[in-house]
Amino acid sequence: MMSLLFKNLRIHQIFGANTNVGKTILTTALVRASAARDERGDTYYYKPVSTGPLEDADDLHVQFHTRRWPSKVHVECSFRYNDPVSPHLAVQMDHKSPPTIETFTSSIASNIRQCAERTSGFGHMYVETAGGIHSPTPCWPSFPTQADAYRPLFLPTILVGDAKLGGISTTIAAYEALVLRGYIVDALVVFNDPTGQSRYGNSDYLNTYFSERGIALTALPHPPEKLEDAEENQSVTERYYDDLLSSPPLPRLLSHLDSLHHSRIANLESMAERTKENIWWPFVQHASGGGVNVIDSAYGDFFNVLGPSSSRSVLHPQLDSSASWWTQTFGHTNTRLTLAAARAAGRYGHVMFPRATHAPALALSEYLLSPHGPGHEWASRVFFSDNGSTGMEVALKMALRTFVRRREAYLITNKDSLVGGVEVDQKVKRAYERRLGIIGLKGSYHGDTIGNMDACEESGVYTCEWHDCKGYWFDPPRVVIRQGQTAVKVPPDMMKDLSAHDSIVPPEQKLTNNLLTFPSLAHVYDVSSRLKTPLYKQYTTYVARKLWTLRSSFRITNTEDEKDRLAKNELTEQPTELAALVLEPLLLGAGGMIFVDPLFQRALADVVRNPQEFPVFTSSVQSPTSSHHSTESSTPTSTFDSACVAEPPLPHSLPIIFDEVFTGFHRLGPLTPQKFLGNAHPDIAVYAKMLTGGLIPLAVTLASREVFDAFYYAPHSEPVVGSQKNQIEKKPGGKEDALLHGHSYTAHAVGCEVANETVKMMPDIVRGVEHKAMRNIWTQWWESSPTGEGMIEQKRPPSKLDWSDPILLLDRTSGSNGSNEDAVYSLWHPAFISNVSRLDLVEDVMALGTVLAIRLKEVGGSYTSTSAETVFEPLCQILPPTSTPTSSFGPAKATPGSLSTPGYSIHFRTLGNVAYFMTSLNTTLDVVREVQARIWRILNDKPLVEMRNVKFGIRKVEST
Ligand SMILES: Cc1ncc(COP(=O)(O)O)c(C=O)c1O
Repeated sequence: MMSLLFKNLRIHQIFGANTNVGKTILTTALVRASAARDERGDTYYYKPVSTGPLEDADDLHVQFHTRRWPSKVHVECSFRYNDPVSPHLAVQMDHKSPPTIETFTSSIASNIRQCAERTSGFGHMYVETAGGIHSPTPCWPSFPTQADAYRPLFLPTILVGDAKLGGISTTIAAYEALVLRGYIVDALVVFNDPTGQSRYGNSDYLNTYFSERGIALTALPHPPEKLEDAEENQSVTERYYDDLLSSPPLPRLLSHLDSLHHSRIANLESMAERTKENIWWPFVQHASGGGVNVIDSAYGDFFNVLGPSSSRSVLHPQLDSSASWWTQTFGHTNTRLTLAAARAAGRYGHVMFPRATHAPALALSEYLLSPHGPGHEWASRVFFSDNGSTGMEVALKMALRTFVRRREAYLITNKDSLVGGVEVDQKVKRAYERRLGIIGLKGSYHGDTIGNMDACEESGVYTCEWHDCKGYWFDPPRVVIRQGQTAVKVPPDMMKDLSAHDSIVPPEQKLTNNLLTFPSLAHVYDVSSRLKTPLYKQYTTYVARKLWTLRSSFRITNTEDEKDRLAKNELTEQPTELAALVLEPLLLGAGGMIFVDPLFQRALADVVRNPQEFPVFTSSVQSPTSSHHSTESSTPTSTFDSACVAEPPLPHSLPIIFDEVFTGFHRLGPLTPQKFLGNAHPDIAVYAKMLTGGLIPLAVTLASREVFDAFYYAPHSEPVVGSQKNQIEKKPGGKEDALLHGHSYTAHAVGCEVANETVKMMPDIVRGVEHKAMRNIWTQWWESSPTGEGMIEQKRPPSKLDWSDPILLLDRTSGSNGSNEDAVYSLWHPAFISNVSRLDLVEDVMALGTVLAIRLKEVGGSYTSTSAETVFEPLCQILPPTSTPTSSFGPAKATPGSLSTPGYSIHFRTLGNVAYFMTSLNTTLDVVREVQARIWRILNDKPLVEMRNVKFGIRKVEST
């Protein structure tokens, strides 16, 4: 993103509705009008790309006709090619090496910045593009069209309409293409048609059309035809320009452009205050004061934000390093996604969904359930909603109903009449069902609706008047990288259990300071192999025993007194039953970027699916199937055998929800985190955020056939039919049995179409060169650890930060692998992770896929702590890139600190003492490296570290 809005320089780019519509004539006239102003100020004409012989070059034409103001007018051209053809051909015909798109846009931006830096007074600048808006640029490899190539510059536009026959159509089409890309179109200029008689009436028609859209049209007389005699031609043309200057439309256009420029700046500068008066932010304590991040536009991984008022440059680029609350898949304003949104908006707008279908929703559902989608092998239905919280709310409803149906089936089959069974009082049954609880993990987050909050533990920041948590939350073991060592950090009470059986920790794993060490992250996430380890058995035993104990204590004993109290809603202290397992696979995001040991999550899933281990529906509290589970202190002798994992779920087990709102769709590498749980599948899973590329809200809740059936069939009223014991007669349900949940915008076509485009685009990026490079690097990193002793045990922290260059490394290793898409890797460099994890300030670090989390040492760090925010505050400074770009990106001769240096700040979010950084899938490794370099500098800034240690009392903290 190049932020090009300056107080002292008004810049407009001139786009043509087509080639040959008079761009150069208009631009020359504007340059002359600007130069002829009484005001002091330079005028710049800039032609980034010129094709054709030099004598016909547009910049020479401008130079010639502005020679009256030699010191005021400055003319420049950057990329010149001889053949008068489209730039993408001209560059090849000239046998020149085409610029990359980065070189192209950054050299234009650099030129513009230099003009802004040296201009005196209030200057004007005109950037004349080549051909029509969709004429290709000379940029290798894809030769994007001008409309796309100039978009990062985000210059306000003057569109030159087409006066010829058919020009109404090309003009409107060009305008719409600009609007789709977010361009600000400040003016439309149309030359009257060549007959001079307005025979085609283009400007009249366009005037009405554009004035309805708030855009002023300026009609100018048609320029004189080119004369054979060069001198005569020049003097006729000069007269034409003089006439334009002295007639009202041109000066009027000039002051219109000036006034739009000033009012855009004034508007931007007033937005913060107006926002404070009118808007109520999410997750923000307004009483705490603070600034407002005024976002003018966004592109790729950057926002374009209002900068300090002291600066000439009104805007500056700001890296969106939280991927806009974890939503971004390809960065902002991806044209393919915009067009997909427009396609569906144009075709459907929004159409209601019950008993309806449309192609985008159907195609998306079919994809999600296909072998390429996340529902492969387990899901059979897709339920649509419009954000992650709602998707999860629906998932909870599905899970609770599924539990109740499984339970009813069990009770009927076993002729049981526990409370909640079909034979008991309906009032008691309702009261019982209202207080079903869930099993989860401490630090979980599923959204801000009340149902989701109730599925999270009490102690979080959410504890308030509308929070009524129902369930039990395990404190999970965490995956960390600490002192360069990959480890699983086991929480203290689980630790007691494990250390009592130290002998079963394999000799290659150390168990010190609650840390179980691993040779690499790849080992941690190789859950299929870990299922055979003693730790798996320990986890399952631990979980099963805990659940059994809990269940015994929650259990309503079915006495008349208890039934009575239940019906009166008096038993509200605890859930009546644990009815579902709800997990964020691999990573608890909002709860503090906690990477959970995947084996533990797998163990949880396996236990709740195994009635032997966790007998969900046995009627007698006193007689669990495994008596050794009945007390906390009994010897753990899990009978669990990984080979018998209950998958697909047994009818007597708990339904499982995977909340993949954050972690789904390659956020952590693979398409779904289920991969790293040893391919464990849930009964229900929820996706949102990256699903739509970060453009538009949409969520999907995927469900198994059995979950769907729980709403399809009515409660079973008849006992066993036929000879098979578990066979229950099923009756189709009534309306009241249906999933009574739906939002106005359910399955909106625009969201579905954008999701379809997103899932089409993702595989190419994940298989692309940068992801391959990083997969290679991470693999080599583990392999180069000959001792097998943790991540980088033998690689001592370098005296000076010295992580190998990912792109150079790619060259060296090209041809080797990196194509295993299920490899454990991150876009963050392993050497950086290792080095940071060794710093005094840092408790531990973790990175997977696009996510990097740095946990700072702090006494009693919590969600409300500001330690990470304080430490990383310098990231907000606008700085030029510190590292040498590996590609040709960036202006070659920029002076640090000057306007011509494309410096940027980093927008980041923290969670208490955790700072996290997140890329899109296509963030360039240059950007990743730059963020790493800045983080490194901050964490090694002695005065800052000292200040922070004092403020947060760090000296007293032991590294445990
Ligand atoms: C794991 C998880 N679940 C659910 C949600 C809620 O999604 P949304 O913000 O789209 O409502 C979030 C949001 O961050 C999340 O991280």
